Amino acid sequence: MRVTGTGHASMRIDTAAGSILCDPWVSPAYFASWFPFPDNSQLDWESLGQTDYLYVSHLHRDHFDAEHLKRFVSKKATVLLPAYPTSELEDELRELGFTSFVETTTNEVVELDGGLRVMIQALTSPTDGPIGDSSLWVEYDGVRLLNQNDARPTDLSVFTELGHVHAHMLQFSGAIWYPMVYELPQTAKTAFGKQKRERQFDRTWRYIDDLKASYVFPIAGPPCFLDDELWQFNDIFGDEGNIFPDQSVFIREYAKVGGDNGVVLLPGSVAELTTESCTTTHPTDVDQFFANKKAHLVEMRERKRPVIEAAKASWRHPEIDVLKEMKRVIEPLLDESIYLAKGVGGPVRFDLVGYDGESVESIVVDFPGKQVRPYGDEKVRYRFRTDRALVEHLLHTGEVDWVNSLFLSCRFSAARIGQYNEFVYAFFKCLSEERLQYAEGWYDEHFQNADAEDVRIGDWVVQRRCPHLKADLTRFGIIEGNQLTCQLHGWRFDLASGRCLTSVGHQIRASKAPEQANRE
Ligand code: FES
Repeated sequence: MRVTGTGHASMRIDTAAGSILCDPWVSPAYFASWFPFPDNSQLDWESLGQTDYLYVSHLHRDHFDAEHLKRFVSKKATVLLPAYPTSELEDELRELGFTSFVETTTNEVVELDGGLRVMIQALTSPTDGPIGDSSLWVEYDGVRLLNQNDARPTDLSVFTELGHVHAHMLQFSGAIWYPMVYELPQTAKTAFGKQKRERQFDRTWRYIDDLKASYVFPIAGPPCFLDDELWQFNDIFGDEGNIFPDQSVFIREYAKVGGDNGVVLLPGSVAELTTESCTTTHPTDVDQFFANKKAHLVEMRERKRPVIEAAKASWRHPEIDVLKEMKRVIEPLLDESIYLAKGVGGPVRFDLVGYDGESVESIVVDFPGKQVRPYGDEKVRYRFRTDRALVEHLLHTGEVDWVNSLFLSCRFSAARIGQYNEFVYAFFKCLSEERLQYAEGWYDEHFQNADAEDVRIGDWVVQRRCPHLKADLTRFGIIEGNQLTCQLHGWRFDLASGRCLTSVGHQIRASKAPEQANRE
């Protein structure tokens, strides 16, 4: 089996029974904020795109690049489709001209022609990607690969049961706006960023340890930020609170926990995998490349400047009455929303900065009051400040997922009262009837069927499944003193009170183990 690195989470897998192109991403994403790092635009996409199969893991723009798919990927390719609850991914791909689909069932192996076997695990909670994220398992001639991508399965046993995995590709770096966009003192931001960076690595080690593959490939990040306004997010300033460490940092940190089977793929690197070995060739010296990272980014920044300028010029739509349009789009959804609206539990304010850079229009999405209206000098749950032009563009294009556009762009600042609230982001990624209904249904089902099993961890008896997204706490839960941390997403719980310290709601059921309680 041959794996060619094609940048970020993208790769091409070649076997004698056919090739699979995964997540080709080249065009800037999220309001021209994210670019693939290292640059992959110079690859021979004409020939890479001549593939037998196409796998697009999910709809996030750094995985689903419509422009690139349209131009470079053969429409004769058969799409390996994750089993998502909505048909959006399939619809988008059909729109681009793909007609051949293998509709997979989650966790079921599909036998393709010539002895190629694949399995896709689709994750479908409202907090997984844009209502869906997935991993691809591939087997050919005894060699097995898991492209875990940036998916966060609660458990990898479904893959380990299929036999030893030789290549494990997974995310290790950040792909979020926290904590950089928060209006916090720099020292607090650095402290939170440091914690976040550590948590990302801890989660990665946990997955690696669960799968115990022969080789580990750090993929799916980090992106690079080439607009001057976002340049500071690149991890080139020695900032320990930067959440975007690159592959060379991964190798260094991995070595500290005893990992010596890491393989970095640059765009154009080729790994030849057998059941016994992995031989990799690179287009350039890898260490040298990362040693010159800043120069590489500076060169890219100059080259991509016109692309960013052209994108910016397309965002303004002064004819749009933002308040009126937000009312039209959001109010009917507020009306229907039970769980999400209740979960947000307060007003969310958008401060929209005009073209002059000074004037501000403040609009409130009032979740309890179920309306969108001008801000009324009240306390709000969250406040977002962004350019009015960005929201105009979202409304102009009818964007149903403001996470997969505005929030991931990092082109905003934020403040909040109290803890992180997942429902805020879940709502703003569900600005369509179909998505909202799905998310409401999901929460309904999960809140009704609260997991009843308890397990003992250290001195505590706690519910087995994490109140966040049901990770098995016997595997992901770490207890220090009275605090439990679930390593899947790093959420923390105070066991004495059951309170979630990371997000509102999400109480955990916990009590001292009997002999422990008797001793006190
Ligand atoms: S499942 Fe997300 S923190 Fe536990």
